[in-house]
Amino acid sequence: MRGDTKPDVCVIGLGYIGLPTAAIIARAGCRVHGVDVTQSVVDTINRGEIHIEEVDLDGLVQAVVQRGLLTASTTLAPADVFVIAVPTPFAKDGNHTPDTSYVMAAAQQVAAVIKKGDTVILESTSPVGTTEAMRDAIAAARPDLELPGLGEGQPDVSIAYCPERVLPGKILEELTHNDRSIGGITPRCARKALAFYKRFVKGECVTTDARSAEMTKLVENAFRDVNIAFANELSMIADKQGLDVWEIIRLANRHPRVNILTPGPGVGGHCIAVDPWFIVHGAREEAQIIRQARDTNDAKMHHVLARAKALADAHPDAKIACLGLAFKANIDDFRESPARFVAAALAREYGSRVQVVEPYAGDLPVEFEGTGAELVDIDTALEESGVLITLVDHDVFKVIPPEERTGKKVYDTRGIWPDVA
Ligand SMILES: NC(=O)c1ccc[n+]([C@@H]2O[C@H](COP(=O)([O-])OP(=O)(O)OC[C@H]3O[C@@H](n4cnc5c(N)ncnc54)[C@H](O)[C@@H]3O)[C@@H](O)[C@H]2O)c1
Repeated sequence: MRGDTKPDVCVIGLGYIGLPTAAIIARAGCRVHGVDVTQSVVDTINRGEIHIEEVDLDGLVQAVVQRGLLTASTTLAPADVFVIAVPTPFAKDGNHTPDTSYVMAAAQQVAAVIKKGDTVILESTSPVGTTEAMRDAIAAARPDLELPGLGEGQPDVSIAYCPERVLPGKILEELTHNDRSIGGITPRCARKALAFYKRFVKGECVTTDARSAEMTKLVENAFRDVNIAFANELSMIADKQGLDVWEIIRLANRHPRVNILTPGPGVGGHCIAVDPWFIVHGAREEAQIIRQARDTNDAKMHHVLARAKALADAHPDAKIACLGLAFKANIDDFRESPARFVAAALAREYGSRVQVVEPYAGDLPVEFEGTGAELVDIDTALEESGVLITLVDHDVFKVIPPEERTGKKVYDTRGIWPDVA
């Protein structure tokens, strides 16, 4: 690829990150071949449809598929740039060990088709050193190629790490406008990746080395986790001392250099509740606050459950409405959700006394099966339940006026109703 010829791009992993990324690159005029191991995902995209919920993504995918700029299959095709956006969960070993096997599997697939002049970019959130490990795997599979950072000569290919920091619900906008950290294995690799991102990113693209870019992504989410843990710890202290945490935070935040975040029932989702463990895994001795924040945020979930049970036990004839299951407001993502954990635990304990209100769910998740709990709309819950527990700050819950809650016993874990202490 020379001069301004548009590169052919292969995006590996077509989920919440990979599909919008593939669509945006295609919108910039590059031919994009998307790869996913799941046949139904591939078939859906080739029909010009989408398998995930994301604002405006359906129209964009339909347009780029119709124009022939985006195709999908389960196998890699040769390309000039390979973008890897596969999952990086932690292993189910009880130890929160990062599982980079999906990245390494993708690297093996890339190794089979990569040629001189190509660029490989890892976007998956990854422990420090993963991009180098991926480079080593490609080097082992392709001794005919010179890989960056390994020998004296000019490398044949470029390898870089470029993390995502998008907000679900605003992915297309943020993919385009957010600043990006671009970490090359060598400065030359970073420049190659930078030239690629400049084609479709309007935010500032800042180059660094691959390890720093990997750590930067983890640090961003650990920063959020630690700050939320501070708010959650405060809320538990306030409960013990009979204080109103919301009032205290409101007052403290009047200090010009204090900005305490909002407590909640814990921290969920597949990023903030997961990524800090990647730091802890790499520096167990040193990562004391980061580890403690994870434990504090998990402890808050159990604290909320205990308070909710105490309220339910104090009003044994009342139905209990759990408002929300999602891991945060106004989305349909229930992964690692503390609200879901609390509501399911209450359902197991109190059975048909429990009503769940979740406007973003068609059915209750599997762990509610056989408990007797039911999914109801907000009006039914307000009519029938004597105990209300707010677990998610969905807009639809925030606007319920005090007069519709008259006579109810309320535990507001999100502070959405200022009239409730
Ligand atoms: N979703 C977010 O908001 C977000 C934000 C920032 C970073 N990330 C990170 O981005 C990465 C991807 O996350 P996601 O939310 O898109 O995950 P996802 O589960 O939605 O999508 C991943 C896709 O990769 C596919 N896949 C797995 N192995 C594959 C392989 N070897 N070849 C081809 N396809 C394969 C899966 O079938 C799936 O469709 C993760 O590392 C995540 O931590 C996600």
